[in-house]
Amino acid sequence: MANNKIFLSGIKPTGTVHLGNYIGMLSQMRDISREHKTIMFIADLHALNIIRDAAAVREHTYEIAAIIMSIGFNMDNVLMFRQSDVPAVCELSTMLTNVTPKGLMDRAHSYKAATDRNTAAGNDADFGVNMGLYTYPILMAADILLYGADIVPVGADQKQHVEFARDIAGHFNTIYGNLFKLPEAQIMPDAGIIPGLDGRKMSKSYDNVIPLMASSAELKKRIMRIITDSKTPDEPKNPDESTIFMLYRHFATPEESADFAEKFRAGGMGYGDAKKILFEKLDSVLAPMRERYEYLMAHRTELDAALANGADVARKIANKTMPNVRHVMLGTKK
Ligand code: TRP
Repeated sequence: MANNKIFLSGIKPTGTVHLGNYIGMLSQMRDISREHKTIMFIADLHALNIIRDAAAVREHTYEIAAIIMSIGFNMDNVLMFRQSDVPAVCELSTMLTNVTPKGLMDRAHSYKAATDRNTAAGNDADFGVNMGLYTYPILMAADILLYGADIVPVGADQKQHVEFARDIAGHFNTIYGNLFKLPEAQIMPDAGIIPGLDGRKMSKSYDNVIPLMASSAELKKRIMRIITDSKTPDEPKNPDESTIFMLYRHFATPEESADFAEKFRAGGMGYGDAKKILFEKLDSVLAPMRERYEYLMAHRTELDAALANGADVARKIANKTMPNVRHVMLGTKK
């Protein structure tokens, strides 16, 4: 079924991209880009409530751009750009602020998590909360509405944000007429919890990640550090409790995964051997991506050119939307 819906997703440049990000989000957006128009932007403005180091924001932005260009996106269908290269998103965000009920922001999961943590620690509810965190969903609504996205694929944790964008668009349209499409969240198939080296969810806050673009040597080192229980090679093992298997199955074919699981269940395969198989599989899938990534990171002018091109196209779209918004809100000529 041909359809011309526009898919959109943003990634914050806040840290090293790891296998959890790849499995949970990037590889799924890549698959979407094979069939649909896909907008991928690097949400550097959204990163500012977390990172205060401009050089780090810039470097992580390059890394994400290089990753998008290395992991098999259909770049003919992809519009990739840096959020801050289109200042109109800030203008739209300011305008949307005026149709956004404060109560909506009070209910945002991310904000509530911060106030709950503060209250539990006996602090003032808003301790350490900046307005970037509080109004995060409005800027995110501006991202989505500015480019007329139809579908926003997200993990379950971001679903509420997309619903807010839809609510905000609805409030705007009721007051000013139907200017914005109502975007829909598409919940990405749950990849399950992607475990990190220590078996907890892979997350930079636990310092247990395997970077997507780790060198072959680094990849091997990290895999060898995966924590296992003390079962001997001969003992049967439950694959679904093994970090090794839970990572392997995302990169192997279904047959390979079934075979690996069976070897664990039967006993006879030790953790050392299992890690070796995991390493070889990951390295074979990631090596070609890594090669292109490293090339691009060593040729920043190519990344700059790609980002500049994307920004040009994104600004053209913004320049179609904004005159209409200014017209209905401010009475300016279109
Ligand atoms: N909030 C998203 C995250 O934390 C990033 C993001 C910013 C985004 N703007 C967006 C995602 C618009 C989808 C659509 O991962």
